[in-house]
Amino acid sequence: MARGAGHVGGPCDDAEMSEEQKQADNRARATTDELRTFIREDWAPRRPTVDGPADAASWAAARRAVLSAAYPKQRLVVPAGGLKVRSNDSDYVFRPHTAFAYLTGLGADREPDAVLVLEPLDDGGHEAVLYLRPLAERDSDEFFADSRYGEFWVGARPTLEDVERELGLTARHVDGLVDAVAKDAGELTVRVVRDADRELTARLDDARVENGAERESLEEADDALAHAVSLARLVKDDYEVEQMRAAVAATHEGFDAMVAELAEAVAQGRGERWLEGTFGRTARHRGNGVGYDAICAAGDHANTLHWIKNTGAVEPGELVLIDAGVEVDSLYTADVTRTLPTDGTFTEAQREVYEAVLAAQEAGLAAVRPGNKFSDVHAAAIRVVAEHLHAWGLLPEGVSVEDTLDKEHGQYHRRWMVHGTSHHLGLDVHDCALATREEYMDAELRPGMVLTVEPGLYFKADDLKAPERFRGIGVRIEDDVLVTEDGCENLSGGIPRTADDVEAWVRRLRG
Ligand code: GLY
Ligand code: MN
Ligand code: MN
Repeated sequence: MARGAGHVGGPCDDAEMSEEQKQADNRARATTDELRTFIREDWAPRRPTVDGPADAASWAAARRAVLSAAYPKQRLVVPAGGLKVRSNDSDYVFRPHTAFAYLTGLGADREPDAVLVLEPLDDGGHEAVLYLRPLAERDSDEFFADSRYGEFWVGARPTLEDVERELGLTARHVDGLVDAVAKDAGELTVRVVRDADRELTARLDDARVENGAERESLEEADDALAHAVSLARLVKDDYEVEQMRAAVAATHEGFDAMVAELAEAVAQGRGERWLEGTFGRTARHRGNGVGYDAICAAGDHANTLHWIKNTGAVEPGELVLIDAGVEVDSLYTADVTRTLPTDGTFTEAQREVYEAVLAAQEAGLAAVRPGNKFSDVHAAAIRVVAEHLHAWGLLPEGVSVEDTLDKEHGQYHRRWMVHGTSHHLGLDVHDCALATREEYMDAELRPGMVLTVEPGLYFKADDLKAPERFRGIGVRIEDDVLVTEDGCENLSGGIPRTADDVEAWVRRLRG
């Protein structure tokens, strides 16, 4: 239904409409006082929108305590972000900013326009205050006439009391936010996570400057806060690990569902979309949705690394590379790739490439242990990739494995695997993205880190340097691993991975 259009003779969202829209006779609706009164009366008492304290609440409090200790006597501001227009009067489903989700424990579609403020206390520490747009009373126009926030349109949102009970922090109306953030910005440092809500950030910048802050210093101070939150997420707490396990379990279900639909995907035409939709149904059913757009890439499409168009057919005899992850309601996401023979049997050439990628992945997995650097995982995997390319005679004449691994002068292997082997994984699929090279690539792996190991080999159909038998074959195998005290646990290792296990899986489920 069109937002704000209302039913014939019903109310409309006058406040939000542009002059042009108000003049358009397909939208304008009269709202009389009599109608307002009629709509407002005779409703049963409201029930709370939350059951009680959220599981994530105490974990989020502990994460806030880390930040509080790092920034004594400073005000820290972390917006959730607002609704984003998809087109005209339709918004995207809301997804809060990752820093906000991490520090509040709120997930799913909560809570547009909310802002977490860590307010410094005189005797040390901070008070956590969540500014939000609470449920409007039934005597307000918002109740029935605001298609973006009103209860008639989007359902009951939480009250301030609901949120306080759920999260164990102070909740206030968002109308007080700008004053609360900026009031003494000349006297203490106020830091804002800037990219969560650009419009709000601009307003807060102006208000901070009006209250004595120097405009030139804002961005640098703010960026340090976003960086700190990104860095804090490098090592997951027990709740996060549990959520990652749930994301992987739901992703396993989604892959099983796709494998079971392989024959149908071939039969239907545009089978890549059939598989995408199949995974999407599991993702929406079991979790919040997909953590990123699924890549369902049959045949040569597998050689386009970010193939998310998914418009192609899935043909018998081909491979289909599927890179997909369920994001659970807490917003933690898995990121798994499997490359499947559509008929349940690899051809000789497909198996040859598959075994090479698997060997590279095994080498990468073996390098995931505390004490090793993050970049050692890629180094181990890419060496095996290079060895295979060398053995196949694909590197330039006279170039050895060591030569191609040389960072300055080699790297010929990148023609067939241009991407890295690993990234951190968590609330974001490419998690902790603001960490520096020293903090990420060059840093030692620590227990509690979660990362992917995902080598691949990609031989484009028109690659004349590739042996003919390999042309049009792309393989990636991607797993999500938890660094443990003495190595790692492959969280997604239960999803069939070896060539034989993949064949058996496809034959068993595809029917
Ligand atoms: N699906 C994105 C990635 O594997 O990094
Ligand atoms: Mn990945
Ligand atoms: Mn992936």
